[in-house]
Amino acid sequence: MDFPMFHLDWLNDRFLIAAVAIIHVMINHGLAVGFIPYITWLEFKGVQRAGRDQIADWEWDRLIHNKMKVGFIITTTIGAMTGVGIWFTVALVSPSSIGSLIRVFYWAWFTEWIVFVTEVVLISIYYLSWESANKSLRSKLKHIRFGAFLSIASWITMVIIVSILSFMMDPGNWNTHKSLVNGFTNPIYIPQLFFRTPVAMLMGGVFGMLLTTLFTKKRSTLRIQVVRLGGKWILSWTPIALAGALYYWNAMPEAMKANMSTAVGSMDFAEYYDILKYFIVGATILSVLLAIWAIWKPQKVNVMLVTVPCLLIFGFLGIFERVREFVRKPYVIGGYMYSNLLREEDYALYKKEGILKHATYTSVQEITPENKIEAGKNVFMLTCSRCHTSNGINSIVDVFEKMYGRGKPLDEESMSAYIPNMHQGRTFMPPFPGNKKELEAIVAYIKQLQGTRESLQGAQVEGIKVNPLQNMEQAVKAYGDSVLVSKK
Ligand code: HEC
Repeated sequence: MDFPMFHLDWLNDRFLIAAVAIIHVMINHGLAVGFIPYITWLEFKGVQRAGRDQIADWEWDRLIHNKMKVGFIITTTIGAMTGVGIWFTVALVSPSSIGSLIRVFYWAWFTEWIVFVTEVVLISIYYLSWESANKSLRSKLKHIRFGAFLSIASWITMVIIVSILSFMMDPGNWNTHKSLVNGFTNPIYIPQLFFRTPVAMLMGGVFGMLLTTLFTKKRSTLRIQVVRLGGKWILSWTPIALAGALYYWNAMPEAMKANMSTAVGSMDFAEYYDILKYFIVGATILSVLLAIWAIWKPQKVNVMLVTVPCLLIFGFLGIFERVREFVRKPYVIGGYMYSNLLREEDYALYKKEGILKHATYTSVQEITPENKIEAGKNVFMLTCSRCHTSNGINSIVDVFEKMYGRGKPLDEESMSAYIPNMHQGRTFMPPFPGNKKELEAIVAYIKQLQGTRESLQGAQVEGIKVNPLQNMEQAVKAYGDSVLVSKK
């Protein structure tokens, strides 16, 4: 409401965030948080394996260095770009929610930024000084220590960001006591961190094993030894990941129940939970099998054999993120702000006075028979466009046609009856916030859309129209001089 509405009609705005964020999470978990400690550990093993008069087993060390090269290049390019990219996409698609999150987590993000810069410095030192550190045992051990610091820094970024992710699912008592500490220590935080940490380690190990098979000769002693160690790494993290999954599993529905009284009972959520359950079981069994095979028959492990579990585990994380985003609905910040970026506490006002009157950017404020369709377009933009398009992915005409029959002319009466109750029918959708006239307008707009299939343009194409009711003069008229005095 306070920001112009950016909108991608062909793609669906949610996908823009999801595409960038999911790539980022995969790289962050698989190639930073989990991979760096795995590499550091293997580098140390290379020193342990050396003979008395040697610093490290050099063939071994070269392999680990090459593996690190892949991690270094991907994390500092695609990893860093998608990390910054998340800021761009959320600022475009969901500015109000990111604004609220920044207000709550200001100092957390400030710390995160410092840690991130430290991480970039450390990874550069760690990777670029690898060869020069190979001169003496002392400098090699120092180098390994850098790897350990880097591992800790990577993990700390996760420690901070996971708190924000779980806050969005369930802010806990922040909704009554709005402080950073209350927000940070939300109920799903620890379970989610406890789950993500070993999953990242697992992913790092599986990805590392894939690189081992790519960078070594078949049946070479080096491959056999590194693969076997990798198997041990994966096998030791799997039970922890499973315990974390169970812990998280048990924490999640309870907390969601408390916050979204209507959400949990619905079939849709059960269905998504089920998919996640099978994926967790499948990915766990597969990584255990891979680990056992790697320990038992390392000479039989090849690129193909590792590629499948690697894809599945990275795919699992992708699905997991999607589900996490979905079960949070209808909220973007649990109990506080709906996914349409409207705050729950403002609903009473909108329902009474209409949302157009209170929107900062709208081309219509008062609905008349002449501007009804245009008004409906504005209402659609403000209340549905974060999740629906006019004729792209999850198009509004499609979802109505799915209910009422393909190609059949949409019936305004049925739509008018459906929309005010849509939250009861589909709990993942926020309730409709508008008043009666706005309901009639949006229905007229959707009906017309079925005929024209016109594409809805966002503010980036259409430009903006500022609501004349939303200026100081009007505010003073409505609420008196007190609005000019900043309130405590
Ligand atoms: C938080 C995101 C979100 C918002 C906001 C939202 N929807 Fe939906 N809506 C969905 C999703 C997701 C579906 C399911 C699509 C599917 O899987 O086919 C859906 C489905 C629907 C359906 C079909 C329901 C069914 O039972 O098949 C209708 C009708 C609908 N939306 C109308 C609207 C209208 C009108 C608005 C705005 C007033 C709106 N939605 C706002 C996410 C949203």
